[in-house]
Amino acid sequence: MPSALPDGEPAPADGRLPDHALTRPSAAGFGVYVHVPFCATRCGYCDFNTYTAEELGGGVSRDTYPEVLRQEFTLAKTVLDGARGPVDTVFIGGGTPTLLDASALTGIVADIDRTFGLAPDAEITTEANPETVDETYLRQLRDGGFTRVSLGMQSASPGVLAILERSHTPGRALEAAAAARRAGFDHVNLDLIYGTPGEHADDFRDSLAAAVDAGADHVSAYSLIVEDGTALAAKVRRGVIAQPSDDVAADRYLMAEEILSEAGLNWYEVSNWAATERARCRHNLLYWRGGDWWGFGPGAHSHIAGVRWWNVKHPSRYSQRLTARRSPAQGREILTDHQRYVEDVMLRTRLAEGMPIASLQPSGVAAIPPIAAAGLLDTGALSTGTVRLTLRGRLLADAVIRDLLD
Ligand SMILES: C[S@@+](CC[C@H](N)C(=O)[O-])C[C@H]1O[C@@H](n2cnc3c(N)ncnc32)[C@H](O)[C@@H]1O
Ligand code: SF4
Repeated sequence: MPSALPDGEPAPADGRLPDHALTRPSAAGFGVYVHVPFCATRCGYCDFNTYTAEELGGGVSRDTYPEVLRQEFTLAKTVLDGARGPVDTVFIGGGTPTLLDASALTGIVADIDRTFGLAPDAEITTEANPETVDETYLRQLRDGGFTRVSLGMQSASPGVLAILERSHTPGRALEAAAAARRAGFDHVNLDLIYGTPGEHADDFRDSLAAAVDAGADHVSAYSLIVEDGTALAAKVRRGVIAQPSDDVAADRYLMAEEILSEAGLNWYEVSNWAATERARCRHNLLYWRGGDWWGFGPGAHSHIAGVRWWNVKHPSRYSQRLTARRSPAQGREILTDHQRYVEDVMLRTRLAEGMPIASLQPSGVAAIPPIAAAGLLDTGALSTGTVRLTLRGRLLADAVIRDLLD
């Protein structure tokens, strides 16, 4: 079951933004996110806004989806009226974008280019499920302008993949990464999940080693979250599957840091490692640095200069709204300076580049000495005016952020 949307205030039917939002483009750039809300089956742990064919109902299909999106592109062009663009980063996420034909995905990128313009060195990423792509498909994506592919590998252990209810074999994810390399992708990410109940330390060690051997220049590793309303949550409640352990997750995180850094992949955000600066996900960096982005598709969130809004979740309602020439935005909020400050601290403290002390409020500056004394902040970075987490600090990032904001 997909998770709920925030409340907020009603969004204007024509999608209009307050004048002030259009005057100051963010120095962190302008990005486009496109949500593709289709999956062949739902993995037991996932509460993303995605639908299997049976759950979808009428109104929108994989075939008609690019046309529906085009209507929101047109609306965005009218609303922005040239105030943003060209686009620095595009990220097509899901769901499973690669359930669409490769020509549909490259067509979406071409539509974005026609509508807003793409910066000459734009980063263009798609998420991909390993079982849905082969070299021919990936070559079509590369030829159509994609620069990066992000594959949901999750684990090299068949047992863990079975608990997660993933439909690919471990070999398939590794083959897909190698095929992406052969197809000309310099930038290949593999997503891993750790701490799944039943996962042994060696399972995760093997997953990390396999991701490195497959030629990924980027790895995202997230601990398994038991989301309310998922099949996994029901199994945990019934005692069929154990609750993931925080201590195990911490051990796995240390393992990720050790193996990835030995392989030359360095952390640049608490859960993300990259081989080079070029290999970092510029789209996610844009989010974390407070940039502007328009999120297209059902349930997608957008942010322009402190105005945040989110679209209706169901693909049919999304399509109906656009057909009726109404904005698909369901709600929005205009962030106060304090809300923007809180988000800034929450996101930037998790980055290796850190949070400038000069950007902290006096209470945040006053909180630094005890956090540093506990070994959670890099003293070298502090001496140059930056709050940067140590390895121990990364394990306790949420607590550090709480203290900085207290
Ligand atoms: C929502 S998926 C979309 C991409 C693609 N369908 C896939 O599964 O790889 C993006 C990433 O979020 C991860 N994810 C989703 N739910 C999660 C959870 N409850 N805990 C940890 N990671 C999760 C997925 O495993 C995947 O790597
Ligand atoms: S394939 Fe990805 S988006 Fe689809 S249900 Fe599984 S984790 Fe969620």
